[in-house]
Amino acid sequence: MAIKTTTPIYPITQTDPESSYAEAYRTIETNIQLLSMNVKAFLVTSARPGEGKTSTAANLAIVAAQATKRVLLVDADLRHPQLAHRFHVSTNTGLTKVLRQGCELQEAVLPTEVEGLHLLPSGPIGINSPSLLSSLAFTSLVGKLKSKYDLVIFDAPPVLPVSDALVLSRNVDGIVFVVDGAASNRLAALRAINEIHKVQGKIIGGILNRGPRDNDNAYYYTPTFDPPSHESTMPLN
Ligand SMILES: Nc1ncnc2c1ncn2[C@@H]1O[C@H](COP(=O)(O)OP(=O)(O)OP(=O)(O)O)[C@@H](O)[C@H]1O
Ligand SMILES: [Mg+2]
Repeated sequence: MAIKTTTPIYPITQTDPESSYAEAYRTIETNIQLLSMNVKAFLVTSARPGEGKTSTAANLAIVAAQATKRVLLVDADLRHPQLAHRFHVSTNTGLTKVLRQGCELQEAVLPTEVEGLHLLPSGPIGINSPSLLSSLAFTSLVGKLKSKYDLVIFDAPPVLPVSDALVLSRNVDGIVFVVDGAASNRLAALRAINEIHKVQGKIIGGILNRGPRDNDNAYYYTPTFDPPSHESTMPLN
């Protein structure tokens, strides 16, 4: 099934909250809360680029906000920030400005069309931006965000090419690990999980993105989305 949409980059849980896809994200979000009662902040990562981290982070943030939580979605992928684009937001402020230039948080955090969901975009990025994630200022910012919101979700870079997600893992309560079921490379996933374990990162859930519907290996699960047809403006994320 190829879904056609004129708003191709807005998350599916917002464009079609009644869909089975949105229902799957709600189930995942509930499972995360049930299995990990004290999680106030988690990051979303994967072994390699393009496995569906940003789509997963955005959709989980939306369903959590729809469940009446105060949620902040943070673009902590300072290599390939995508969230401002996905939420159709144009801004020149965000995380890097808060950390580097002491920009006030309330100036950098943006409301979204989803009630209860705020977005902290990446801000302008440069070659040294990722080092901000290991700063004391970042640790202190995360503490502040956790006190202001019920849930803080970080969209992070992949584990294998760069160490940012491992660095970020020190400041969150858990990690949601996404595996692209359509292009799955078991060895890459195992290597990434091993790296996470080495830094005592706590994986609180795995998500098989684009995976087969009845795959028993995933303890969380999102529906299979067929590849787009050539005329589809796609995607479902
Ligand atoms: N379940 C899905 N069905 C269809 N398309 C999807 C699905 N998940 C992700 N995509 C598409 O795959 C591409 C990569 O997804 P996404 O940006 O979420 O991955 P990512 O892991 O954040 O990538 P990167 O590592 O580059 O940040 C995007 O074009 C997205 O629209
Ligand atoms: Mg991404």
